[in-house]
Amino acid sequence: MQIDIKQLVKEYHGEGDTVRVLDGLDLHVARASVLSVEGASGEGKSTLLNIIGTVDKATSGEIWIDESELTGMRPSEKELFRAQSLGFIFQHHYLLPDFTVLYNVMMPLLIQRKDRGWCRSEATRILERVGLAHRLDHYPNQISGGEMARVGVARALVGGKQLILADEPTGNLDKRNSDKLCDLLWELQAELGFTLLIVTHDMDVAARVPLRYRLANGTLQTIG
Ligand SMILES: Nc1ncnc2c1ncn2[C@@H]1O[C@H](COP(=O)(O)OP(=O)(O)OP(=O)(O)O)[C@@H](O)[C@H]1O
Ligand SMILES: [Mg+2]
Repeated sequence: MQIDIKQLVKEYHGEGDTVRVLDGLDLHVARASVLSVEGASGEGKSTLLNIIGTVDKATSGEIWIDESELTGMRPSEKELFRAQSLGFIFQHHYLLPDFTVLYNVMMPLLIQRKDRGWCRSEATRILERVGLAHRLDHYPNQISGGEMARVGVARALVGGKQLILADEPTGNLDKRNSDKLCDLLWELQAELGFTLLIVTHDMDVAARVPLRYRLANGTLQTIG
């Protein structure tokens, strides 16, 4: 997916004061590219991801996803975009503790009321691809941190998503697991051709990203 962000502004209104987190931010993301957004804590990295991911609303500005403008979409169109095209990967994976690994990954498809058998085979296929074929029936508290991260990747990708937004995906992992997760993400991106936007503080991760941006004072600058 291609993204074009024009003059994006996000303000939070508190008691008597207004905090302007994003201040006329512009960004062009080419189809099937990998880019990072870096920057100090509180600069608005998660805010930016959440706005692109339609879980938060901009104060003003435009976001074009391919030929559609997000801020003008009806709720039902946004929902369709989220369900069909968008995958989120989080630092704290937010796996559902009462469901098995397989069901956690089936869930985004089940919510779309897809055929149950198809959901199962799609989820199984992506879990095999991330190396978890032997953990399908385990619960989240029965797998390791590195495995949880890979379940998070599988859940984001299941059903063939075209835009993956990752907020500190390696934030909870040691160096070895972080390297493994990056290897996996990069391999999958090359195979499947999704657009990957990674927010990260981790310099080892950032060093592997071809196109890097720093978010500061509400706008983005290229790094390097
Ligand atoms: N709902 C809210 N109401 C008011 N201010 C908010 C709200 N959500 C976020 N903020 C403020 O907006 C700023 C940006 O927050 P954001 O979570 O996007 O930062 P971040 O760059 O992701 O930081 P970190 O690296 O710590 O995750 C922060 O100063 C935060 O306090
Ligand atoms: Mg954040």
